Order: sequence, then structure tokens, then C-alpha cells
Amino acid sequence: MQFPFSRSTDPHVDLSSADAFNEGAPFATFDRMRREDPLAWAEMVNGDLGFWSVTRHADLLELNRQPDLLSSARGIRMEDQTEEEYEARKTFQETDPPVHRAFRALAAKAFAKGTVAQYEERIRAIVTSLLDQALEEGEFDAVDRIARRLPMQMLAQIIGVPLEDGPWLVEKGDALISNADPDYTDFVIDQVDTEAYRLLPFRSPAAVELFDYANGLLDRMDAGEQIGVLNLVREPTSHGTQMSRDEFRNFFCLLVAAGNDTTRYSISATIHALANDADLLRKLRDGELASWESATDELIRWASPTTHFRRTATRDFEYHGRKIKAGDKVLLWFIAGNRDETAIEDPYTIRLDRGRNPFLSFGQGGPHICLGMWLAKLEVMIVMQEFASRVKSLEQIAPHSYLRSNFIHGIKHLPVRVVAR
Ligand code: HEM
Repeated sequence: MQFPFSRSTDPHVDLSSADAFNEGAPFATFDRMRREDPLAWAEMVNGDLGFWSVTRHADLLELNRQPDLLSSARGIRMEDQTEEEYEARKTFQETDPPVHRAFRALAAKAFAKGTVAQYEERIRAIVTSLLDQALEEGEFDAVDRIARRLPMQMLAQIIGVPLEDGPWLVEKGDALISNADPDYTDFVIDQVDTEAYRLLPFRSPAAVELFDYANGLLDRMDAGEQIGVLNLVREPTSHGTQMSRDEFRNFFCLLVAAGNDTTRYSISATIHALANDADLLRKLRDGELASWESATDELIRWASPTTHFRRTATRDFEYHGRKIKAGDKVLLWFIAGNRDETAIEDPYTIRLDRGRNPFLSFGQGGPHICLGMWLAKLEVMIVMQEFASRVKSLEQIAPHSYLRSNFIHGIKHLPVRVVAR
């Protein structure tokens, strides 16, 4: 059975506007672009420089693996940044190899597959406790009750901060990364003057508070204390350099933002799917899947929580007959690649038995492939497993709403009714 994840049907939305995603991702627009204009040019609604859009799966794979041609070192989001803004806000995510590789290697140890596998029981304990409370209520907002809570409850343990700080970190992380949604910030990036915050991550004043928090952690580490996995990223790299205090503060903001909301929106998309297609829950329960890993990949493909990442051309080149100039902004719309039927058969259907799944939600193929991928996958998988074993029926009981953002894609409220088995 097919059911729509998005309510958006317009094939000509303005991708530079956060409002274009208010009714869910504009899949009809991406379908048209892949078909008619695989390297489309668009102007920015706010007067920033225009951008090229890459929407075909094969092109995304090909271009994402060429950081020498398409660099991350001029920013990774749509907004233009001055050199000063870029320097003040950058993390290793906004650098290219070899500098990128050296810093990533430090953090990668903390989020490697084998390391993350050790968290399985702790994740299951969190999910079980969240689900227990929710099942008792019977009717609840699945995002508020489960999806928004799990990622930070786990991340707090990994980075070694008190669990009680979790809700505050979620709130601040939301203010950063959901900076276009008035539900999460008073400083809505395209509606309010954020010039005073232009040197802060996401141009958000919430970063000031997170910087203070990170300063406290830095002071403790400098005094010799071990704080979760955070000391790892302050070790010298193989090049003998060390992450500066400024870079650490930015990295901490990245973790709090990236480790929080993307997994949340994978979980909310998963619960939305299970609530709208009873057969999916039955298949999970009866084991009609290629494997739990492949069911997880399929739901994260379906969810596509990060719509795009930006690159900047390092030199003039031609692609699909278009002339791209050095300095041009090129957006890699991973979400569009995830619905490309030339790579993924029947992409608008969730197939738990898909097996091989060349999805791009984590920026696969590129040097920046998501560092938190194994953690996110494990969390989504355990949510599915616990729903399958504990829930008899699940239905959506009122319309859901979407985050206002053209960068992060997801359901922010999802009213459901559950009956326990
Ligand atoms: C389903 C959940 C998630 C999705 C869809 C996702 C998506 C992505 C994508 C697409 C990239 C590549 C960016 C690029 O190409 O420029 C990325 C990078 C990154 N992600 Fe995730 N992410 C998720 C969860 C997480 C979690 C849980 C964490 C941390 C705990 C995390 C931390 C990072 C970091 C630090 C990077 C930068 C890596 C680098 O530049 O080398 N992500 N993520």
C-alpha cells in the first residue's frame, strides 16, 4: 500500500523558501527537476546568491565524492557567509580533505559502528521506558513523547553530560537547527534581523548559551577531567594540530543540533508510516523483512531528514551542458536522490524487504558521510523492534505538522493512538 508522506503536490515550488516545506517535502518538484532539469539554476528569495540544484541519484553520488571540485569549505548551507562569518562558525564539517580527514578521525572513534553497538541495551532501556509511559497514556504526540526524547537521552550519556541537562540541550539544539521555525525560536532566520548573531552557529543567540555550557566542559577537560567521548576530539590530530576552543564550541553546537533532530525526524517518519499502514507493523512483527538493518535503512531513506548540503565550485566546469563557475553554490539534494526511480525501484513505496538500498540520507559516497550514522540507525531500529513487539495497533488520530525548514525535513507533531499487545 502507498500512502503519502508529504501533502505537497506543487511541481514548481521555490526551494529557497522554508515555506516550500510547510506541507512536507516538495517531492513533485524534485521529480520534475530530475526529469527535466537535472542541474537546475534558481535565485534565492532573500537576495543571496542563486544556486544550482543536483537532484539525480547518480549525479549526487558522482559529485559528492569530489571535494576538490565541490568544496565544503565555503559553508554547507544555502545561506551566503562572509569569510569572517565562515571562519567564526566553521567546524571540520566545513573543511575539505586533508584537514577534514585529520579532525574527523578523532571524532570518528567515538561514533564507530563497534563503539555504538555497545549502547544497544542502553538505547533499548530508554525506548522501553518511553514506550511504557506512552502506552499508559494511550493517545499522545509521538514526537513529543518518543522521537524528540530518545536521541538526546542517549547522546547525553555518550558525551558525558548530566541526563537532567537533556531537555535544555534539546531546546537549544532546536533553536539552532530549526532556526526557520517560529515554534522553536524567536529569531526566525528569514523573518527577523539576525545580523547581531551572524558570527554564531546558525546565526542563533541560542549558541551563546551553548558556548557557555561548552566553556564549562572545556575548563574541566583542561583541568584533566575525562568527559564522555569529548576528550577524544581535543587530542592532537595526526598532523599535530589541535581543535581550538572556538572550534570545539562550534563542534559542540553541531553535535547538539545534528545529534538531536535528524534522528528524531527519522523516528517520527517511522512512527507515521507504521500508523498509516497497518501492514508495515504486521510485517515487522512477522519478520517479513530482508533484515532489521535493511528495514532501518529503508525507513531512513523514506524519512530523508536532511534535505540537502551545499558545496561551492572550486573551478569552472561543465555538467549536463551547463557552465558552472568557480565560486558557484551547488546544492546536493540527497532527499531527491532518495526518490530517484532509476536507482531505487518504486521509491514512493516503503519496502521492508528491499535488501540492497543505495539510499543517500547520510551523504553516502562523500568524505563527510554522517558521523552519527551508526548511532542513528541503531536508535531507529530499536524503536521499530519495540513497536513491533509491544504494540498491537497504532493509528494517527489527527493531522500531523511539519517543521518549517528547507534544510531539515520532518514531522514535528504526530498525534497517535496506541493499543498495547
Ligand atoms: C538519521 C539521522 C541522521 C541523518 C539523516 C544525518 C545526515 C547527515 C548527512 C547527510 C551528513 C553529511 C553532510 C555533508 O555531506 O556535508 C552528516 C554529517 C554529519 N553528521 Fe549526521 N545525520 C544523522 C544523525 C547524526 C547523529 C546522531 C550525529 C551525532 C551524534 C550526527 C553527526 C554528524 C556529524 C558530526 C557530521 C559531519 C561529518 C563530517 O563532516 O565528516 N549525525 N549527517
